[in-house]
Amino acid sequence: MPVKYSDLKKKLKIDIKKPEQTELAYLTHFLHGAGNGTSKYYQAGATQYAETILDMVAEPWYQGYLPIKWDIPFPPPENPKFKFIDLFAGIGGFRMAFQNLGGKCVFTSEWNHYAQKTYEANFGEVPFGDITKIDEKEIPDHDILVGGFPCQPFSIAGVSKKNALGRTHGFLDETQGTLFFDIARIINEKRPKAFLLENVKNLVSHDKGKTFKVISETLRELGYTIHYRVLDGKYYAPQHRERIIIVGFNKDIFLGNEEFTFPEMPDNPPMVIEDILEKEVDDKYTLTDNLWEYLQKYALKHKAAGNGFGFGLVKFDGISRTLSARYYKDGSEILIPQEGKNPRRLTPRECARLQGYPENFVIPSYVSDTQAYKQFGNSVVMPLMEDVGRSITQVLLKKNKHVKSVI
Ligand SMILES: C[S@@+](CC[C@H](N)C(=O)[O-])C[C@H]1O[C@@H](n2cnc3c(N)ncnc32)[C@H](O)[C@@H]1O
Repeated sequence: MPVKYSDLKKKLKIDIKKPEQTELAYLTHFLHGAGNGTSKYYQAGATQYAETILDMVAEPWYQGYLPIKWDIPFPPPENPKFKFIDLFAGIGGFRMAFQNLGGKCVFTSEWNHYAQKTYEANFGEVPFGDITKIDEKEIPDHDILVGGFPCQPFSIAGVSKKNALGRTHGFLDETQGTLFFDIARIINEKRPKAFLLENVKNLVSHDKGKTFKVISETLRELGYTIHYRVLDGKYYAPQHRERIIIVGFNKDIFLGNEEFTFPEMPDNPPMVIEDILEKEVDDKYTLTDNLWEYLQKYALKHKAAGNGFGFGLVKFDGISRTLSARYYKDGSEILIPQEGKNPRRLTPRECARLQGYPENFVIPSYVSDTQAYKQFGNSVVMPLMEDVGRSITQVLLKKNKHVKSVI
């Protein structure tokens, strides 16, 4: 008889109380890995937790706890077609997209513990914390690596000198100390068949193009062919959200001949703001007189100076500006007009819809509105990532020989 995850959660005290609860990451990764060959990576850590924290003495301790019935909103696929890892996971926009495509997530990392709570509530797995502290050798083999990493500048002084000396793998020197370095070292060690990286649109122009140059050259140096494009989430949800998507394929496998194309976008956005609004909204989301007055004055001042857009009052039959992680501050970039009242900000549920999350995505009651705004503002337009993921998996699955590690 399968054991329900909700029961296990209580018995095994899976309760995220503070950041970096690595033992819970080991435990939940172990449970997810049972039966697919990846639990061996997590068994020692999970056993240590069971023996020392839970005082479990049965041999083996997990006897009677497997198999598991995943009674969570987004359970892993029953017959997975490929394995992937979810880096800088946030609340799991990529995880949902790639699970929808039949992928099994075998490793995840996200260090913000409020985001970890939302992630666990939806996927039944606690992410590992700081990626910079994780040994790449301890990550299971996978077909696809995915992640939206924070953008940081690189110091490229001395790069040309190193190249002149004929040194390979200069990325170790060039990107050290940045989070992109952590992606590069994992790709270097695990050699996934493909990867999908996502970032803000101006990664391409950041630091006069140097940042993107280092990133793309590093990825090529690692033996991958890269494809990149700026795509707008507005074709999947009523939000203008342009992101650079970088997709890479392992040259050892595809020899640089993969037939990859980005998904085609329709002519017009299929949804408008009205489609995502809640019918009944608490008054706490209405701007106070003070804030509304301040935003109007601020906008006038900047308009007079010829710069800035000020606040963004949406049109019901239009799309919104980009939802940012700072939306919790004043909500000024996306305001909903109200009759006879000051405008209001979006509710967290409306933010979820604006990023294309389905209705059964759980926004846990123990995560505050402020944290929820930050989480959705940092996230991705999920169905766009699913469509890009579909184009990647089509390349991988076209020829079965490419997908040797199917579970
Ligand atoms: C742009 S967000 C990605 C959000 C994600 N794609 C989603 O769908 O929710 C980047 C994430 O990286 C996390 N992060 C930043 N530095 C990290 C580190 N050293 N280790 C693990 N996670 C980190 C942040 O907390 C943030 O949630």
